[in-house]
Amino acid sequence: MSLYKRLHEVQNSGTPAAPPPPAAGGAGAAPGAPSGRGGLAAAAAAAQARTGIAGRRDPVLDELRQRIHHSLIEELGPILYDSRLSEEELRRKVHEALQTALAQERAPLSAADKAQLIQDVSDDILGYGPIDPLLRDDDVSEIMVNGPDQVYVERGGKIQKDPVTFVDEAHLRRIIDKIVGQVGRRIDESTPMCDARLPDGSRVNAVIPPLTIGGPYLTIRKFKADPLGIDDLIRFGTLDANAARFLQACVVGRLNIIVSGGTGTGKTTTLNVLSSFIPEGERIVTIEDAKELQLHQDHVLCLESRPPNIEGRGQVTIRDLVKNALRMRPDRIVVGECRAGEALDMLQAMNTGHDGSLTTVHANTPRDTLSRLETLTLMAGFDLPVRAIREQMASAVDLIIQIARLRDGSRRVTHITEVQGMEGDVITLQDIFLFDFSAGVDDQGRYRGTLKPTGIRPKFAEKLLTEGIRLGPEVFQAQPPAPVAGR
Ligand SMILES: Nc1ncnc2c1ncn2[C@@H]1O[C@H](COP(=O)(O)OP(=O)(O)O)[C@@H](O)[C@H]1O
Ligand SMILES: [Mg+2]
Repeated sequence: MSLYKRLHEVQNSGTPAAPPPPAAGGAGAAPGAPSGRGGLAAAAAAAQARTGIAGRRDPVLDELRQRIHHSLIEELGPILYDSRLSEEELRRKVHEALQTALAQERAPLSAADKAQLIQDVSDDILGYGPIDPLLRDDDVSEIMVNGPDQVYVERGGKIQKDPVTFVDEAHLRRIIDKIVGQVGRRIDESTPMCDARLPDGSRVNAVIPPLTIGGPYLTIRKFKADPLGIDDLIRFGTLDANAARFLQACVVGRLNIIVSGGTGTGKTTTLNVLSSFIPEGERIVTIEDAKELQLHQDHVLCLESRPPNIEGRGQVTIRDLVKNALRMRPDRIVVGECRAGEALDMLQAMNTGHDGSLTTVHANTPRDTLSRLETLTLMAGFDLPVRAIREQMASAVDLIIQIARLRDGSRRVTHITEVQGMEGDVITLQDIFLFDFSAGVDDQGRYRGTLKPTGIRPKFAEKLLTEGIRLGPEVFQAQPPAPVAGR
């Protein structure tokens, strides 16, 4: 039975009816919120959000929750949007008002119910409703809302369904409106797709009907205040210390590197780790759609692209920014992701003295990375012969780092591959490190393999030598197979 139906039943069975919802656009509604009804729905959904409480749902408690929510919004009204109040003060005021409201309701509530009620209502008023606990949960890296009744999260690399739900579409819309409204955007029938960011830096994408079936969709990639570093990647088995040292040498030695992988495989994270190897004192320009990279160096300039405004004007693309960056005397250019024609400008930059540049591309193998780059370069709109593009690529790109999210949820570097040159019309690739899939999986389904040197010394070792970086033979020595346990 739907929550609304249940509430309706409760109301008709003699318990006090909920007061009318506040007027549309009232203090409780975020700017542009569809209707005041969201508030009612919101409080009830927040209750539903609690997994612990789901088993002992109490309609009377639900109804109380809504009543308190509404009276709070009426009472606190304007201060909820008073930007002079700090988050801390606002939270305190809401909690005080909640305590008072609860004291007035002579409801027989246990201390646990009371605490839960306060948490639910404040989540809805101050935060993002039912998904608020997920946003606070550090183990959750991604939140995917597929309409009001279906929420998935990613935990430890695995996607799983979460018991959290919204009451209905209006409730979910209210939360979406609040999120996009906070960054001065709007989402409605004429612009039914929107990118936004939460105040903590988490990336948000929202799409609403008529583009979606089954309610609005909301995807949140949570921002890590403390991004993963090379030590974390080694600890997670994404690569080992030997390969890490090798990559550090490649970055310091100014090789042009492309990180390749599918969505959510860890491209941005790897790019951030590689960027952290750039020596202090170099002038770094980063270019992204939405700032995700967090560089610790002193001399860093961050550029962000801009979507067109409502009249379709004012767009600044990644490509515009790459061209502009070349006039900013960069030592290194770091582009968050090459998705279109900027690939051509990036290749040209790499070929014209901005070596040591880094970017990512969406592809599944190093060979695939090259064909993807070729396609992206053609998107620049010049009628370039394929052979010319390939020559550019072969001389610009030194190294491709391929990452993948394996079936056990772990993210691994599967290839570290040198781009050597051309043979006829074909670009020659040489793997320097490869993930050992042949080691199979253990009884938990976890991959046993590691990233192993193939034994081949890259041609660019000479180039690195001219930069004063010597890679000893031990780095590239193919290791003997690990002894089998028990023998
Ligand atoms: N090597 C890794 N091991 C475990 N988790 C990782 C690793 N790399 C990235 N992650 C996590 O995976 C998610 C997606 O990473 P991100 O770098 O944004 O991927 P992409 O840029 O490929 O979409 C983030 O939550 C990030 O913290
Ligand atoms: Mg990314």
